[in-house]
Amino acid sequence: MSVAQYYETMEYGPAPEADGEARAWLKQHGAVFGHFIGGKFVVPHSGKHLATIEPATGKALAKIAQGSSADVEAAVSAARTAQPLWAKLGGHGRARHLYALARMLQRHARLFAVLEAIDNGKPIRETRDLDVPLAARHFQYHAGWAQLQEREFADQVPIGVIGQIIPWNFPLLMLAWKIAPALAAGNTVVLKPAEFTSLTALLFAELAAEAGLPPGVLNVVTGDGATGALLVENPGVDKIAFTGSTEVGRLIRQSTAGTGKSLTLELGGKSPFIVFDDADIDGAVEGVVDAIWFNQGQVCCAGSRLLLQEGIAETFRRRLVRRMETLRVGMPLDKAIDMGAVVAPVQLERIKTLVETGVKEGAEKYQAPGEIPSEGCFYPPTLLWNVHPSSTVAVEEIFGPVLVAMTFRTPDEAVMLANNTRYGLAASVWSETIGLALDIAPNLLAGVVWVNATNLFDASVGFGGYRESGFGREGGREGMYEYLKPNAWSGRKARAKALPPPTQSADKAGFGVPPIDRTAKLFVGGKQVRPDGNYSRVVLSPKGRHLGEAGAGNRKDIRNAVAAARSAEAWARATAHNRAQILYYLAENLSARGDEFARRIAEMTGVSGARARAEVDTSIERLFSYGAWADKFEGSVHAPPLRGVALAMHEPIGVVGVACPDEAPLLGFVSLIAPLIAMGNRVVAVPSEQHPLAATDFYQVLETSDVPGGVVNIVTGSRDELVKVLAEHDDVDALWVFGSQDASAIAERLSIGNLKRTLVDYGLMLDWYDRAASEGPILLRHAVQVKNIWIPYGD
Ligand code: NAI
Repeated sequence: MSVAQYYETMEYGPAPEADGEARAWLKQHGAVFGHFIGGKFVVPHSGKHLATIEPATGKALAKIAQGSSADVEAAVSAARTAQPLWAKLGGHGRARHLYALARMLQRHARLFAVLEAIDNGKPIRETRDLDVPLAARHFQYHAGWAQLQEREFADQVPIGVIGQIIPWNFPLLMLAWKIAPALAAGNTVVLKPAEFTSLTALLFAELAAEAGLPPGVLNVVTGDGATGALLVENPGVDKIAFTGSTEVGRLIRQSTAGTGKSLTLELGGKSPFIVFDDADIDGAVEGVVDAIWFNQGQVCCAGSRLLLQEGIAETFRRRLVRRMETLRVGMPLDKAIDMGAVVAPVQLERIKTLVETGVKEGAEKYQAPGEIPSEGCFYPPTLLWNVHPSSTVAVEEIFGPVLVAMTFRTPDEAVMLANNTRYGLAASVWSETIGLALDIAPNLLAGVVWVNATNLFDASVGFGGYRESGFGREGGREGMYEYLKPNAWSGRKARAKALPPPTQSADKAGFGVPPIDRTAKLFVGGKQVRPDGNYSRVVLSPKGRHLGEAGAGNRKDIRNAVAAARSAEAWARATAHNRAQILYYLAENLSARGDEFARRIAEMTGVSGARARAEVDTSIERLFSYGAWADKFEGSVHAPPLRGVALAMHEPIGVVGVACPDEAPLLGFVSLIAPLIAMGNRVVAVPSEQHPLAATDFYQVLETSDVPGGVVNIVTGSRDELVKVLAEHDDVDALWVFGSQDASAIAERLSIGNLKRTLVDYGLMLDWYDRAASEGPILLRHAVQVKNIWIPYGD
């Protein structure tokens, strides 16, 4: 048909992008790929390959190598060899390379966009306008951090060799999100792309080498989950950064536990899209299209739960259905389509099954009436109406073009429904009343909140989840910290195996069973309480003198302490000024009893009186420091390339378990709880097991300093046992373990239930007197999670 005829009939005419260049690249490699290791393609040791298909046609596209342990080892060793040289190149040298990668992407933008669309099934309109430009922006932005690194991250050093595992929904963009900050910071990388979509990563590696990236800096090992698992287990890897399903995230947390590897996880979501009755309805309908039908809904932060205020629900539904009628599903290379193919038959089946379940559970299904190609993995835009908040489709991540809708009456109910999920990746709030939107945003448990917008991304704005959506951030300054470690922690010495505890049960120590009313107390909910079991342990001096007793806390005591901490939620909303004031009161009251504390420390630990006094004085100073930081460790305002701002807010993590070290029993305890409470967290602290009396004496300091009940709870007892209970408790949001290697491993391994954030010392001792190592942002960064609130304005 001619253009004139189309004009006459207004019939739809496909506008396919040419794919010659991409097909020629595949042909040039015989459509069979090895791994990319040490700057070149290498034949896989296993000799095994996996077929990768074109989701839109079901036809075979290429063969990629299945990485074996020898392949992974070869890649890790290439990265290991390259790392010191890459780090030595310096910030400017690396900045030039990253900038060259950004330019390389721009030069080959069309090739990348077409190859991505063929391999993944997503529309060329998206790969061309989003995936590729955003990937280039990521490299350019991080070239900037490399350039500024020596100044802006002067106290940090690279981590080493980073293993990165990425999913299939944004193959090139996830590669950029992962490798740009890692390389900028001076690390080298072994990347394992998803088995469905490895081609753009291989093309990228090849062109990066041509652009002069030194061999071994970026290595790509392809294969399925088994290859990913080999990379996670490889002892030469210093950190794993993973994006993918929550299930696999848990496996990775478990397998890295206790190994000393650092870890970031970007996992699934079930993000709410909240529309208030004063929203611009047409704008919000268009927002829904971008929220759930962008990339066929295969987006971890997809606005997949539509929450409508009751009064506008019917109007909204009518307009949304009308808009769905105009959506076009078709071949990915057609520039005029809205939705392409889902990534693979297995994913298509999963979507179909979940939708059937939704209907069985009572949802009304509406699907866009437009034609969809008969071959290939296509699924129509789908709306499930009248969904019960507890039904499967409202709870499970569908990862497809399926929107579930529910209604709410009041803003409070909206927040409750929005947070009624184990995830916490993103949320979108629609209201013309900015005061309402900004009141709601901080109450949403999500790492990203878009106000009157959705699915906005930029390299300068950190991205990442709360709760079971994982931990760590990608992008922004906070994203750089994920690939660096504090220099001051480098030379830490391993703690000698714990001495036989001078604490023993009261009767065995030969002091007789103490009368019940003398049982040493715990501190829970602002009160001194008896331990559940009524047991206590005798605390002896190094020479065996009886100094006092400390309660032997158990599972029940930890549960009570966590409940008290949970109910002290108001602390998170107290003003920073108020929190600062209370930290100063603590310092003041500790100071008033300084001599008494110094005596106690000298008796318990055997250090000299002067040394004990120095510990008290440093503890007072530390409380002052956090009083100072409380209203100064603030977020920032980003200016991403749009008319608007993104507010990077520092929010408390919630309820944090803290195990304290035996060395410096007062200073260690104060240095760990003060940054947490300064930022609005509530704490359940397990003080030094060997020398607990400095912390139990501290009860009275807490009582006289106006610390609200439940903000600081103290449970004395066996560190390993109590850490185990804290790690398994799903109402504990984070766990800091200082004091033992075993407890560190326990904390990481058992934290998988709710994927709590962990900060552990692996048995390496911190110098608590060294401010660079143990005071200020070095710990404050772990005491907050960053929430980015995007506020676009104007047209
Ligand atoms: P997945 O989590 O299995 O795959 C992601 C990556 O991890 C791939 O590169 C895969 O090869 C690798 N992998 C798999 N098992 C591994 C293991 N044991 N150790 C190390 N690496 C491993 O995701 P999958 O199976 O492709 O998709 C299943 C569901 O996961 C989707 O339906 C969706 O709900 C969710 N998902 C979420 C993503 C997100 O961005 N949050 C991305 C992809 C999937």
